[in-house]
Amino acid sequence: MRACVSCGASAADEARFCSQCAAPLDKATNASPRQERRQVTVFFSDLSGFTAMNERLDPEDVRDVVNKIWDRAGDIVGRYDGRINKLLGDAVMAVFGDPVAHEDDPSRAVRAALELHAAVEGLNQDFEPRIGAPIGIHTGVSTGVVLTSETILDGKQTGPLGDAINLASRLQTLAKTGQVLVGPETRRAIEGRFDLEDLGRHDLKGKGEPVAVARVHSIVSRSVTPARRQGRFVGRDTELSLLRDELERARKGTPAFVAVSGEAGSGKTRLLEEFRSRLASDATWLEGRAYPFAQGIPYYAVTDLISNSLGIDEADSSETLRIKLEQGIAAIVENSSEILPPLLQLYDIEGSEGSSIDREAYRGRLLQSVRAILQTLADRGTLIVCLQDLHWADPSTVDLLRQLAGQLSASTLMLFNYRPEFSFHEGGIREIKLEELSDRDTRELVASLLDSPEVPNELVEFLEDRTGGNPFFVEEIVNSLIENRGLVRNGDGWVPAQQFDTTSVPTTIRGVIAARIDRLEAERRRIIQEASVIGREFLFTILSQVSGGEATLEEGLMELESADLIRKRNVDPDLEYLFKHALTQEVAYQGLLRRKRQELHGRVAQAMERLLGDRHREYAESIAYHFTS
Ligand SMILES: Nc1ncnc2c1ncn2[C@@H]1O[C@H](COP(=O)(O)OP(=O)(O)O)[C@@H](O)[C@H]1O
Ligand SMILES: [Mg+2]
Repeated sequence: MRACVSCGASAADEARFCSQCAAPLDKATNASPRQERRQVTVFFSDLSGFTAMNERLDPEDVRDVVNKIWDRAGDIVGRYDGRINKLLGDAVMAVFGDPVAHEDDPSRAVRAALELHAAVEGLNQDFEPRIGAPIGIHTGVSTGVVLTSETILDGKQTGPLGDAINLASRLQTLAKTGQVLVGPETRRAIEGRFDLEDLGRHDLKGKGEPVAVARVHSIVSRSVTPARRQGRFVGRDTELSLLRDELERARKGTPAFVAVSGEAGSGKTRLLEEFRSRLASDATWLEGRAYPFAQGIPYYAVTDLISNSLGIDEADSSETLRIKLEQGIAAIVENSSEILPPLLQLYDIEGSEGSSIDREAYRGRLLQSVRAILQTLADRGTLIVCLQDLHWADPSTVDLLRQLAGQLSASTLMLFNYRPEFSFHEGGIREIKLEELSDRDTRELVASLLDSPEVPNELVEFLEDRTGGNPFFVEEIVNSLIENRGLVRNGDGWVPAQQFDTTSVPTTIRGVIAARIDRLEAERRRIIQEASVIGREFLFTILSQVSGGEATLEEGLMELESADLIRKRNVDPDLEYLFKHALTQEVAYQGLLRRKRQELHGRVAQAMERLLGDRHREYAESIAYHFTS
């Protein structure tokens, strides 16, 4: 007998659907209900003035009002791929990052909360006359690792459990009407993308120490670099000179086309920024970006490019937007009346032709407009069109860029960047693959982050080992060591306060890695998790025993290797693999429940004993570790 993960009712082994609630009984997930430790961002929103409303309105009207609001909440939260976890009368709890993590879950949650606040304000036009007073909403947001929810207790589903949940609820209580408050972890992850106000530390119920609280005012119009420590630019000489060569080609009349590819945090954006800062001032630079939350919005990256170029803000009213578009385009091209309509439609401005026109034809017209603008700019001087993070681009954007790529005019350099899971196959494109920083560059980066030539050796070794030379990971760990006082000032230099904690992973890094692991197929994810129990390095034979000798293991490992999550460390005499980043192993391992970890450690110990018995001495310590973990 099995249990249904939705309602907890028992189900016959051969059943495909639950006889009680008709939920599908998927074998893979049903064997053990999916329960994990994972990093999520949660918000609680509560209606202010609920009591007053209850006094003045008939209960049915109250229900109507509340339902309208929570319907909107459902739409908004769903659009950011979060889910409403609970509705408690006048409060709602939304979770982002479960069952699938996105590296921008904290931003998604905050965006959704702001939108919900705006929606409630909008609904007031209708509600206020009925209730006699405006209704409001207040919200608390927090990020952290929780135990996910598919536990069934007495037939009831519990919500996710963890400190982050309590904190969000406390912050919501602290918030005044209209306020969105965030805790320290969320703040860290969203800094630079939202307009924040520091509210200092507050004593919150259930918290031993005062908690740093910030209020979110709005989305910052365009991304601003957070006020964190950024290091001096290191290495990347070859890459810069290649970019310069291509620019030269473009100047001489051949349109050029370069893509920078590399994993998250490898330095794609920074390389392009540095390239830009070294350009002569006669070049025009246009830039747009794709965002993970906008993968379903057609032409989002193209819209972003235009918005950046014309100074259009997300917060602009449609009237302002129309004026900016009309004036901006008229300042570039002469025949703006032909060029403008598809752009107005792109921004969904009322009065433009609407959606009746079919998609093919629209794409053609948009392409023409974009090309005309680029051509005019390129005729005046060197034009660089930079599009970032194409791995997140919606299909229509990619499609438009492919078409555009074949029709570039002279003196145009097109620059793309994306992660290795994406590729822009198109004739004539040069791809720069960003490798990890060398040990020397890593050391130099750390020195500049600490603003001190004296860098403790153990710190550099710790960072090299954990980050594999990924500059983003280096930066995040150094910043978090300083914030958490793992590194302390000592005269001009720094010293470790204690041994570095190899189990602590900064929120931002965990977000990136967990999102990557979640994108893997279930089978691959399982391999990663099982391997993580063995250690940073793992022998094929041991893993194969732990996995139950599955025939698909080799194939799975090959795929993980080509995804650059693991690497072959040794082939002879034993096939051995290694997690590219110790951090990946750490995040995968920490996603396992303690119970599951123990079980896997036991299996690893037994497999080691069986297979490596004759090399006992070499492995004795490791076997003992697994037996006791
Ligand atoms: N060569 C480098 N030297 C110093 N810092 C770097 C270098 N490359 C990247 N960084 C820093 O690492 C972080 C991540 O880099 P970024 O360019 O945003 O990565 P990506 O765009 O590939 O995700 C940034 O804060 C950036 O300043
Ligand atoms: Mg980037």
